[in-house]
Amino acid sequence: MSVNQDARPDFVTVKGINLLDHIAKNIDAVSAFCPHSSDILIGAYPKSGSTWTVEIVDLLLHNGDAETCRRAPITVRAAFLEASDRLRPKSGLDQLKEMVPPRIIKTHLPIQLVPVGFWEKKCKMIYVARNAKDTVVSYFYFHDMNKTGPEAGPWQSFVHKFMSGELGWGTWHDHVKGYWREREKKNILYIFYEDLKENPRREVERIMRYLDLSLSDEVINRIVELTTFQNMKINPMANYSFVSKNTYDQSITKFMRKGQVGDWKTHFTPEQSAKFDEDYEKKMKNINIPFRTQL
Ligand code: A3P
Repeated sequence: MSVNQDARPDFVTVKGINLLDHIAKNIDAVSAFCPHSSDILIGAYPKSGSTWTVEIVDLLLHNGDAETCRRAPITVRAAFLEASDRLRPKSGLDQLKEMVPPRIIKTHLPIQLVPVGFWEKKCKMIYVARNAKDTVVSYFYFHDMNKTGPEAGPWQSFVHKFMSGELGWGTWHDHVKGYWREREKKNILYIFYEDLKENPRREVERIMRYLDLSLSDEVINRIVELTTFQNMKINPMANYSFVSKNTYDQSITKFMRKGQVGDWKTHFTPEQSAKFDEDYEKKMKNINIPFRTQL
């Protein structure tokens, strides 16, 4: 069967979650994946800071050695678990076969689709969450430049799709709630994009302790410096400049776009914001996850 590489894929619903068609086809193999107990899983709803977290973890595992962490593009240093080979040289699963544990594995899957092997092997998992309003703005721009997924369409309807779970990887609300509820039972380190922005050193240290590492102050400072937005934006091994324009067209928007908390204020009208908040209250009632939409 030949695949038209130019066609932008659409969604297929798997257990109620919208996934890109080529990822949905791969999902049974992903579910059966058996990790090594030393593997580290980094989970996030799309556009919540997963690239940032991967870079921090890679540096932590390599004692803050910048050169080592520029050994390869971030997509090679961390495997994207559910990625298929339709638009990449290798699927996440094929890539994992060639990596040596402890491997950094990234996923956007909601918790119910994470392979059970990660829990059976008691792997460490870091989940990074970002407030819904900044996430939807970032996701909107990402759809514009990401040629491997559906187009964004107008902003107004994009926000509607975000609220109703029509975008890839399902609803943000269920995603963040699913991991929050299980974080203690499954020993998941749940971190927030806003906390990373507010006090990166504190959060890098939290991640370090969670990974049972102990690095010097000097190394921690270096990791904080190497993972600022400005430095990652110009790091060719982290800023996705290594992927082709047919994949991410960064002449439209940069992958490292703004990296701010509160950018949503320049996108939402007061009416959109009120409607979004009303929907948010309903979906997030009975749970208190301390999201912040400004610092
Ligand atoms: P913006 O589009 O708001 O700029 P992910 O890696 O999960 O796809 O998330 C991408 C978002 O994280 C983008 O948000 C990107 O700019 C931001 N980001 C990446 N690295 C960052 C860093 N070091 N500091 C702050 N934000 C960062």
